[in-house]
Amino acid sequence: MSGEGDVLEPGGEVQEALAQLAARLRPNNRPGPVPIIGPIRTLLVAAGYPPEASTLFSSLLQPAKPSDLRAQLRLVLDNNGLDRRFANDIAAMLTRDSDEIDVGELLRIASRSSTAEDSCASVAAPSWLADPRFAGAYAEAKGIAAWGREIRWRVQTLVKLAAAASHLEGDFVECGVDTGGTARAVMAYLGDDAFADRTFYLFDTFRGLVSDQLDADHQEGEHISDERYPDVSEVVRANFADKPFARIVQGTVPETLDQFEGSRVAYLHIDMNVAHPEVEALRFFWPMLVPGAPVVFDDYGFPPHHLQRTALDEVARELGVEIMMLPTCQGLLIRPPDGGA
Ligand SMILES: C[S@@+](CC[C@H](N)C(=O)[O-])C[C@H]1O[C@@H](n2cnc3c(N)ncnc32)[C@H](O)[C@@H]1O
Repeated sequence: MSGEGDVLEPGGEVQEALAQLAARLRPNNRPGPVPIIGPIRTLLVAAGYPPEASTLFSSLLQPAKPSDLRAQLRLVLDNNGLDRRFANDIAAMLTRDSDEIDVGELLRIASRSSTAEDSCASVAAPSWLADPRFAGAYAEAKGIAAWGREIRWRVQTLVKLAAAASHLEGDFVECGVDTGGTARAVMAYLGDDAFADRTFYLFDTFRGLVSDQLDADHQEGEHISDERYPDVSEVVRANFADKPFARIVQGTVPETLDQFEGSRVAYLHIDMNVAHPEVEALRFFWPMLVPGAPVVFDDYGFPPHHLQRTALDEVARELGVEIMMLPTCQGLLIRPPDGGA
């Protein structure tokens, strides 16, 4: 590719290619498809693009199998020094075989997004990122979390819904806590006073997923590895030692749910990565959720978690409500006053 300051000096070949291109692009010059590939290839080569670029360009203008196109795109991107994973992602995006994807729109969003992270990019201006209250709560949570990446959009959903729920009467509940990142974010954002008259229940095995709750597909997933979920029972106790309103309930959901001693729930976050305990947690707490209480399902829209999504949708249907899929992939339910009946 030409470097900065390079000047393309059109020789006879380039001029000829330009003339051919102009002739072929002239409206009404020829009916039907316009064969412009040859001249464009000449121009690209003359401009210093690698030979694969012109081959690629030809493929783009001709019907080509997506796999061929992907391979060529990858080659061009690789040859231009781009990281292989990034090259793969770009190639996959540009050759997606879906009517639902407008690649131009995707690129527009990606180029204007200031916080593309955690599978979420948006042109929305995330003004809340600069809010010290959010930044402080997020930093505090990140200090104890096992997220392994930034998840600010998802945490924003949780803290803002928790703020709304803080106006309701009832306990807060999280099922699927791990070292406590998302629960801590909510506590830090609301402040201890919000829990003066309520308990924040934290349900988890604190030893990872329960293998006999997983179906065959899930068994193969990376989730059950001990590496991802080491025993954090002591860690989590230490992480919430300064929060007397936090009640840690260790063990397998749904069996441990009867240790809930409240009668009303104002906020419910479900994040156990497995359909069975999530469905049972929803069924268990539904009658106790006060009108307006949010229920957030962390994994709901993530493609590998489709089993949870379909199982939760089925229960929601039975309850007469619908789960909203957020762009963060979280699912959101608001308890209606009549319980959905
Ligand atoms: C993705 S992690 C939760 C992450 C946490 N919400 C955060 O963001 O900081 C999933 C958790 O669900 C727990 N879990 C999975 N199945 C469970 C079950 N049946 N009963 C209790 N906990 C379970 C695992 O031990 C793990 O800690």
